[in-house]
Amino acid sequence: ESPIVIAIDGTSASGKSTNARLVARALGYVYVDTGAMYRTLAWYCLKLGVDVKDPEAVARVCRRWKTELRCVDGQVRLLVDGYYPEREIRTAEVSAAVPYVAAVPAVRRWMKRKQRECIRFGNLVMEGRDIGTNVFPETEFKYYLDASLEERHRRRAAEGVQEDLAARDQRDSQRKVAPLMVPLGARVINTSGMTPEQTSALILEDIRQRL
Ligand code: C5P
Repeated sequence: ESPIVIAIDGTSASGKSTNARLVARALGYVYVDTGAMYRTLAWYCLKLGVDVKDPEAVARVCRRWKTELRCVDGQVRLLVDGYYPEREIRTAEVSAAVPYVAAVPAVRRWMKRKQRECIRFGNLVMEGRDIGTNVFPETEFKYYLDASLEERHRRRAAEGVQEDLAARDQRDSQRKVAPLMVPLGARVINTSGMTPEQTSALILEDIRQRL
């Protein structure tokens, strides 16, 4: 039997990470944060002094970097030269750079291959922007989370982060390759005014009915 993949897509700060973690823990599935993978490449480009707005240069970095996928405590990590840049990828500088890196076709092909490889770790809850549309379009478990812009800014502010979320969503929705959109057949959940416990309970109930 092939592993089960739960695809959770949606806008920035819509609650994807929190909910994907809760769902993965409840089901005993492995959690994959694909945004972290794109962030890692953006961070690595910045570290090398590569212009993230130069698609050719970014593709070259992607072709050459030495990476390894590892599953630690039920979470997949992408290591670069043996290192996991957990804190480094959460800076405002990296957030602003990622959408450029994520729009490069060669990067998306590379990421899709790596993300599909994750099934060797078992059943997955995978979170991102194109999981239900592009990475695992064959899965029957697709969820799309969104919330009002005000609520999403409030959530980020509570985490001490100030960011133009609308600008990032616009870039992610308007790129040519695998843009952010609601996957066909996805269950859409507006998380405004909902706690992570409520949202994840809704997702879990839906999954358990169909498992
Ligand atoms: O989820 P997170 O906000 O960490 O993602 C950071 C960025 O990575 C997104 O704004 C987007 O540009 C890119 N991304 C993507 N496809 C994914 C996951 C993330 O393009 N599946």
